[in-house]
Amino acid sequence: MGRNPSGAYQDAAGLLAEIAGQLPENGFDDRRRDARLLLAMALGRDDAVLPHEDIVISDQERETLAVLIKRRQQGEPISRMRGWREFYSLDFKINAATLDPRPDSEVLVDAALHWLQDCDIPHPKLLDLGTGSGCLLLSCLAHHQTAVGLGVDIQPDAVAMAQDNADQLGLSDRAEFKTSRWDDAISGQFDLIISNPPYIPKAEILTLMDEVKTHDPMIALDGGDDGLDAWRQLAPVLARRLHPSGAVFVEIGAGQDDDIAALFQAEGLALVAKYPDLSGLNRCLQFSLT
Ligand SMILES: C[S@@+](CC[C@H](N)C(=O)[O-])C[C@H]1O[C@@H](n2cnc3c(N)ncnc32)[C@H](O)[C@@H]1O
Repeated sequence: MGRNPSGAYQDAAGLLAEIAGQLPENGFDDRRRDARLLLAMALGRDDAVLPHEDIVISDQERETLAVLIKRRQQGEPISRMRGWREFYSLDFKINAATLDPRPDSEVLVDAALHWLQDCDIPHPKLLDLGTGSGCLLLSCLAHHQTAVGLGVDIQPDAVAMAQDNADQLGLSDRAEFKTSRWDDAISGQFDLIISNPPYIPKAEILTLMDEVKTHDPMIALDGGDDGLDAWRQLAPVLARRLHPSGAVFVEIGAGQDDDIAALFQAEGLALVAKYPDLSGLNRCLQFSLT
């Protein structure tokens, strides 16, 4: 589609198709969706541009668009360019220290929220070990209004981002964040403990898409030689921090079910349930004290 003298398009469809045609096919998101978001960014908007929309694009915005397309061609995820990602229908800011929240992790939030609904604890206390952007803890707090929570991370810049997200979402009065190596800097017990620790085997990280290994912090991914380093560290932490009537929900890597269940069983934590993701893989495990 051509441009008329005022710089206006009849509708955005032609330009979107042009942008999509310049994008790589192997990203997280599909090319048409990426095109809608890149055009929106160039126009200074948060919401995606839809094909039927009338748009006006200035020469300066065209230059911005060209730079954005180049960054995307080089593998930078859209969420990293925007500095935020939607998770559980909430917006989370991300920075270089935080994992880019993944849709698969919503399985854990769903399972944890069901447990919270049924638990009969007036003000349940939550602990999120390895909180990153705070997306798991804050999604739980946003949907269970009487809960309070503590999120910890070994990276101070992740903790600052999680606190910022809590402020933005109006949850600071119920959420606290601390820099801590697992439970080193905390005390007490918790009704619900959630965690999505680093669990990818070292050798497998090399095979991941560039988008992941270049833009997500290694400390958020690297689970050591067999992917189980963090699980070995967490098993005793979970056992001492869990209230006797509480529950643990953890996100796991593909095929780790049995190894994790054995490590946790040795610390007195029994497997209660497995929750699959949309592809049918067990993505989240629930434990309680035996
Ligand atoms: C896979 S990311 C998960 C982040 C976030 N919870 C999410 O689901 O998007 C793992 C997080 O654990 C943190 N982490 C790694 N080792 C840690 C440790 N020993 N103590 C505390 N946090 C740790 C990383 O910094 C990272 O933020």
